[in-house]
Amino acid sequence: MNTKKIILFASGSGSNFEEICKHFEDKKQFSIDLLICNNSKARALNKAKAYGIKTLLINKESFYKTSSTLDKILKITPDLIVLAGFLWKIPTKIIDKFPNKIINIHPALLPDYGGKGMYGMNIHKAVIENNETKSGITIHFVNKNYDEGKILFQKAINLEGTESSESLSRKILKLEHKFFPKIIEKALNNG
Ligand code: GRF
Repeated sequence: MNTKKIILFASGSGSNFEEICKHFEDKKQFSIDLLICNNSKARALNKAKAYGIKTLLINKESFYKTSSTLDKILKITPDLIVLAGFLWKIPTKIIDKFPNKIINIHPALLPDYGGKGMYGMNIHKAVIENNETKSGITIHFVNKNYDEGKILFQKAINLEGTESSESLSRKILKLEHKFFPKIIEKALNNG
């Protein structure tokens, strides 16, 4: 049996990372081979330890000016690279080696609320300020232009009049946890 290998990038609270670990824990045909993280305080790092997943802490210098991260990735030769709360732009040298093999999750309905400055609560605040009637999640391939790669999956929710950016953010995170691991598995099976 050929195991399908996943490399994850996560630098935040790591709640999606944890859901992905849970989802794949007992599926022997898949393995999570590495967590790449740019923040030594990220909770994702502790979560990785709990699941026995190797971690690689990167800094801007090594990530953008050397090929050390790419070399580590190439050694593993992953079937899929997953960005689960990673804000730095992926260098072209990595993107070029993995066409249609890098996916990201974005907490809004792209192409709306994407691009520069559109991350975390900034997104949810803008959605509420604009009185949108819908928001949701987008899972998409990563290409050279942030948030513009081909969309793999979207799920929308209706917003209530009483919605706040905080309540919206909680709903969106729940949606991410429900769908992201399944879409990753689907992408691996189709790839
Ligand atoms: C998620 O909202 C995701 O859409 C965005 O970063 C956030 C990560 O949250 N790309 P967590 O670290 O998985 O809790």
